[in-house]
Order: sequence, then C-alpha cells, then structure tokens
Amino acid sequence: MVLIPGGKTTVLVCCGLVVALAVLVAAQQPPPARGAASGVSVERGKYLVTVQDCNGCHTPFKNGEPDMTLMLSGHPQSVRVTSRPALPAGFSTAINDTNTAWAGPWGVSFTTNLTPDPETGIGRWNEKTFMNAIRLGKKLGVGRALLPPMPWKMYANLTDDDLRSVFAYLKTIPAIANRVPNPIPPAK
Ligand code: HEC
Repeated sequence: MVLIPGGKTTVLVCCGLVVALAVLVAAQQPPPARGAASGVSVERGKYLVTVQDCNGCHTPFKNGEPDMTLMLSGHPQSVRVTSRPALPAGFSTAINDTNTAWAGPWGVSFTTNLTPDPETGIGRWNEKTFMNAIRLGKKLGVGRALLPPMPWKMYANLTDDDLRSVFAYLKTIPAIANRVPNPIPPAK
C-alpha cells in the first residue's frame, strides 16, 4: 500500500479498488478440480493405501494380521461363506476369520481383489473406472451401489491426484489370481 498524502479517504478508496480487482480475478478462474494438483506418485499412492488401511479389509487376515503374501487380493475364493450368520441380540455386524467377509443388514459383502490380475483384479481397469468406483460408490464405477463397509464416501474426498496415485500404486503391486464371490443378498 502506497501512502498517499492527503487523507484517509484516498487510502480507503485504494484498498477498495485492490479488493474489487482481487474478486474480479478470482471470479474468472475456472472451478477448481478436487484439490490442488500435486502430481501422480506411486510412492504417495503406497502411503495413502497404508494409512487409509485398505489392507485392513482387502488383505486376508492370518493369525489376526493381514497376510501380506496375499496383499490386497480380497476375500479368498477358497474360503466359502454361504449365508449371513445369526447374530446375538443387539449386534448388527459380523466379520469372518479372514476379515474379508462382512455380514450385516446388507447381507454378506466380500472385499474385492485390488491387485492388477487381469481376470480377477483391476488389471483391465483404467483410471476412470477406479475414480468413478470411489467417487460414485459404484461397482466397476458404473454398476450397483457398493455395499458396506467399503468407506467410499470418505475416500471420495481425496484429491484427484491422490486418487490417481492410489490407482498408480495398485497397478504396481504383485498380481494375485483370486476370484471373489458375489455378495449374498439379505434374507427376505
Ligand atoms: C472397512 C473395510 C474396507 C476398507 C478399509 C476398504 N475397503 Fe474397499 N471394499 C470393501 C468391501 C466390503 C468392498 C466390496 C463392496 C461390494 O461388493 O459392494 C469393497 C470394494 C472396493 C472397490 C470396488 C471394487 C469393484 O469391483 O467395483 C474398490 C475400488 C475398493 N474397495 C478400493 C479400496 C481402497 C483403494 C481402499 C483403501 C483406500 C479400500 N477399498 C478400503 C471394504 C473396504
């Protein structure tokens, strides 16, 4: 701010002009994409997958810990779950030993294979499929609504570049062929 001799009024007018100009410039910007562009990074994707605990659900558990030899391969096809278990009064959800089959009012959901296997994982997905699955909460980005407990509503808030980074990282992990079963609908 340049101090103009001659009184406060001039200074105030100057300030007003600067603010008006700033508002005008801001109004001309295109609407922001989600989050500032920070670039796509496999390293960041790995970090985000770790701290958002994708392994806590998508990696089968062994002895109470995610079995990292089966990293992110989803509910093991060899572990058969055929119906929603009966739950004690006052309880709504049950999880199986591998932490990958989740029973609740929605029936039973199975965590999906997030490895780059082309037949049973995300090997044939493109970035758009992944972004839409997370942002819209839809199977393969276009299908039925994703079931609980997939926390897509939280992950939908990730910036575009963070989501891209997660996808880029998932494409680099070892591919594991594992066909996850379809969900079991709730009993009528
Ligand atoms: C609390 C458990 C849980 C966590 C944590 C979790 N998921 Fe999921 N996720 C699921 C379940 C269950 C499904 C299957 C839902 C269904 O079949 O409708 C799923 C489905 C998905 C799908 C949809 C797959 C498809 O075939 O359309 C994607 C993509 C996905 N998860 C990615 C992730 C990523 C990436 C993370 C970590 C950032 C993550 N999930 C964390 C439980 C979880």
